[in-house]
Amino acid sequence: GRVAVLMGGSSAEREISLMSGAGVLQALLSQGVDAHAFDPAERELAELKHEGYARCFIALHGRHGEDGTVQGALELLGIPYTGSGVMASAIAMDKVMTKRIWLAEGLPTPRYVWLASDDQGAERVGRVSAELGLPLIVKPPREGSSIGVTKVVEAAQVGAAVALSAGYDADVLCEAFIEGEELTCPVLGEGAHAVALPVIRIVPPAAGYDYQNKYFTDEVQYLCPSGLSAELEREIQRITLASYRALGCRGWGRADLMLRAGDQQPFLLEMNTSPGMTGHSLVPMSARASGISYEALCLQLLAAARL
Ligand code: DAL
Ligand code: MG
Repeated sequence: GRVAVLMGGSSAEREISLMSGAGVLQALLSQGVDAHAFDPAERELAELKHEGYARCFIALHGRHGEDGTVQGALELLGIPYTGSGVMASAIAMDKVMTKRIWLAEGLPTPRYVWLASDDQGAERVGRVSAELGLPLIVKPPREGSSIGVTKVVEAAQVGAAVALSAGYDADVLCEAFIEGEELTCPVLGEGAHAVALPVIRIVPPAAGYDYQNKYFTDEVQYLCPSGLSAELEREIQRITLASYRALGCRGWGRADLMLRAGDQQPFLLEMNTSPGMTGHSLVPMSARASGISYEALCLQLLAAARL
């Protein structure tokens, strides 16, 4: 039957989703799938039903795409979709909720301070750097692609960083900065059958691994194979799989981590339940390293679509 590739949407990551969706659409078409682009920012989701779509490939990122809302709508419409269900999507979209679950499961994630929307007064904000130490990271808990994120190196900068973040999300997440290397590790599958793909080590330029460098420059170096010892690679994959299962994810996902310099302790930062599929994106890169082409990856995800 017909497949809708949901792309675009109205989140701050719309531009990225359009790139992901274009890649997925082209891959599915090349494999003979009757696939069509569908942008929920321009059309009602209920039209999917009227137009006889049998399945959806979700290539939306961020709010109203990756956060369980579209998943819930598709549940009500009875149209199977790729990736995680309502609950895992909603939890993983919120980095604070995600941390609470990981901490309850004994999984390593950086220490944090949660500033609720009604708890961002100067006095409260003033204590953050003493609680977490410096540097620290300030970010909107329900965003992606590094949007609204600041690395704070001086206590006096916390206020401005909180204000920037609050422009994207009412609540603010402040997190201890882990000095070390950035890693990412994709997962495919569900439950006991989920498998972690090869770890990618990200070597950013001095300016950092930010929105611009993630998608629009070739300044970032990606190492896959990671070059880490086999033992450490396995440990990172083990933690990633445990983090995925703890959240109840299915289909696919991608954990972002930091590897602390010195003791090489991995720390989980977040789980992406609708990872980027752009030409610069990391799940396709890691899949390729394990012998899965972009096209095969899209077909595999689509085959696992369900309610
Ligand atoms: N949020 C972007 C799309 C990613 O994680 O790949
Ligand atoms: Mg993310």
